[in-house]
Amino acid sequence: MTDTPSGENTLPTLSAPVRTLFTGFLLVMALGLLMAGVQILLTHGAADGEFGLSVDDVVYSYYGNRGDSRMEAKLSGSMKGMAPPEDRLKIVKWVRDGSPEAAWATEMAPVFQKNCGSCHGANTGLPPLVSYETVTKFIKVDPGTTVSSLARVSHVHLFGIAFIFVFVCGIFSMAVGIPKWLQCTAIAAPFAFLIVDVFSWWMTKWAPGFAYLTILAGSGYAISSGYMILTSLYQMWILPRRMAKSS
Ligand code: HEC
Repeated sequence: MTDTPSGENTLPTLSAPVRTLFTGFLLVMALGLLMAGVQILLTHGAADGEFGLSVDDVVYSYYGNRGDSRMEAKLSGSMKGMAPPEDRLKIVKWVRDGSPEAAWATEMAPVFQKNCGSCHGANTGLPPLVSYETVTKFIKVDPGTTVSSLARVSHVHLFGIAFIFVFVCGIFSMAVGIPKWLQCTAIAAPFAFLIVDVFSWWMTKWAPGFAYLTILAGSGYAISSGYMILTSLYQMWILPRRMAKSS
C-alpha cells in the first residue's frame, strides 16, 4: 500500500477501455442523481401543496398531517361561531383521540345535532354531519408513511444505494493528488449520509423535527457524489492531456 496510487491504478493513467467503462457508469450515475432529485421534488416536494422541497414536505410524507383535519380547520375558521367554545373543544378532543366510534352515539352525536344540525342536516345541501360516517369524512387524519412501507423502502434503499456508492467511491479512490483525509472523507460521506437519511425517516415518523436531518442527508449525498463524479471525470479525460502537454 503506497500513499498515492500509482501506475495503472490511477485515473489519469487508465487504459482506454477501462476509462470508457468508468465514464459510462459515472454519466449514468449523474443522470440517475438528477432524476432522483426531480422525483423527490415531484412526490415529496409537492406533499405540502407547494412545489419545491421543504421541511414541511418531509414532515407530511413521513409524519403525516395529524392535527390538521378539515373539521379542525373549519372549527377555528368559518365555523368558529357555530358552537360555544366548550363544544368546539369537545369535538377537537374527540378528533385528536382518533374519533372513536364508541363515543359517537352517547357523547358526540348530541353535540353535532345541537350546534351543526340546523345547517348540516340530511337534506340541507351542505355536507351532512348527522352520522358517524358523514362526520368522519371530514376528520381523516393522515398518519404519514406506515411502518411496513418504511421498512420496505429502507432496506431497498440501503442495499441498492450502498452498492451504487461502492462503484462511484471505488472509481474516485483512484484519483491522484488529493489529500488523503479529503479523499477518505469524500468516500465515507455517502455511506454516512445514507445511514443518516434512513435513520431520519424513521425519526421523522415520530418527531417531525428530524425532517431537517433528511434534507441535510439528501444534500450531503448530492454534494459528495457530485464532487467525486466531477473529479473522476476530470482526472480521466482532462488531466492526462494537461500532464502530456507539460511534460
Ligand atoms: C348557520 C349554518 C351553519 C351551522 C350552524 C354550521 N355550519 Fe358548517 N358550514 C356552513 C356553510 C354555509 C358551509 C360552507 C361554507 C364554508 O365552508 O365556510 C359550511 C361548511 C362546513 C364544513 C366544510 C365542508 C366541506 O365541504 O369542506 C365543515 C367541516 C363544517 N361546516 C362543520 C361544521 C360544524 C362542526 C358545525 C357545528 C359546530 C357547523 N359546521 C355548523 C353552515 C353552517
